[in-house]
Amino acid sequence: MNVLAIETSCDETSVSIVTNGVKVKSIIISSQTKIHAKFFGIVPELASRAHIENINLVISRALSSSGITFDNFSKKVDAIAFTVGPGLAGALLIGAIVAKSLAIIYKKPLIPVNHLEGHIYSSFIKNKSINHPFLSLIISGGHTELILVKDFGKYKVLGGTRDDAVGEAFDKAAKMLGLSYPGGPIVDERAEKGDPKAIRFTRPYLKGSWDFSFSGIKTSLLNYLKVNPVKNEKHLNNICASFRQAISETLCFKSFAAAKEFNLERIVLGGGVSANYLIRRMFLKVSRENKVKVFIPPFIYCTDNAAMIGCVAYLKYLKCGFKYSDVQFISNPSLKLEDWQYN
Ligand code: KG4
Ligand code: ZN
Repeated sequence: MNVLAIETSCDETSVSIVTNGVKVKSIIISSQTKIHAKFFGIVPELASRAHIENINLVISRALSSSGITFDNFSKKVDAIAFTVGPGLAGALLIGAIVAKSLAIIYKKPLIPVNHLEGHIYSSFIKNKSINHPFLSLIISGGHTELILVKDFGKYKVLGGTRDDAVGEAFDKAAKMLGLSYPGGPIVDERAEKGDPKAIRFTRPYLKGSWDFSFSGIKTSLLNYLKVNPVKNEKHLNNICASFRQAISETLCFKSFAAAKEFNLERIVLGGGVSANYLIRRMFLKVSRENKVKVFIPPFIYCTDNAAMIGCVAYLKYLKCGFKYSDVQFISNPSLKLEDWQYN
């Protein structure tokens, strides 16, 4: 089954053609980073406008690089998937309207996908044999969630962030350090050259809860900088390395503790922050020591992309058919994870 998937929940306009959930025939991601960089964060109104400007070209490029034209569309595409939420209201609407229009014109079923499910299942594109149950750790600019995934579309949310999402903490730290936006990849690059033991930032483990909190690490960085302004490149790299170390240890400690508590043999990462070099290395190292398998998506499927939406759409179709295609979808910016109703 060929799914044309559309993702516009935040600042990436992405379209992908995915066959049977795992074969990505084409993927186009148009990032708006340059537009938002001067504001050190995403400006919702600008994001919506950029999606409107980009979406037609992104669709055309995704179609042409998988040999599909508007003439053979009916024959080659079986369903249209789109991100229904959570995300920015205006941004979500653009993807939803375009998806619905294509579905109506070409008489194709629509499959709505929760953005978080995209991140949960993004590892499946390269590892279709991941078994349930597993622990999902979603770490992105908008989310930090620990979820017990009992079966396809059957979730129990164990914990989430009480304040900043982890990607947001990286982005804000970068701003304090005079680095550009988005800060996560820049702090990560610099951290590779620094000493992670140079400064001891707090590790907010929040014992007794599966929640996270990153505002404390951020404040300790701010306090540190008040007394110790950045001296030189080496000092800056050491701060980045120490900050990244504190965040990575917190994520890793809590994830493996949750896997042990709930008897889970697999941890599956997803979201932009799972592109972080240290987080990837640390999880894989601890995995070897604990006999818990860790799955991390390839870099291209960590940050927002439509292939993960196409992957979930197919999995949802296998379990639920086109049950959801008749619903009058309204994008929902604060959509929660909901269990699928199997056929
Ligand atoms: O998943 P994503 O593209 O968007 C959301 O759904 O939020 O994640 C974007 C976030 C940004 O905060 C960005 O700074 C962070 O992922 N990020 C990273 C790295 N690459 C992207 N954070 C730390 N290290 C990285 N290498
Ligand atoms: Zn995301």
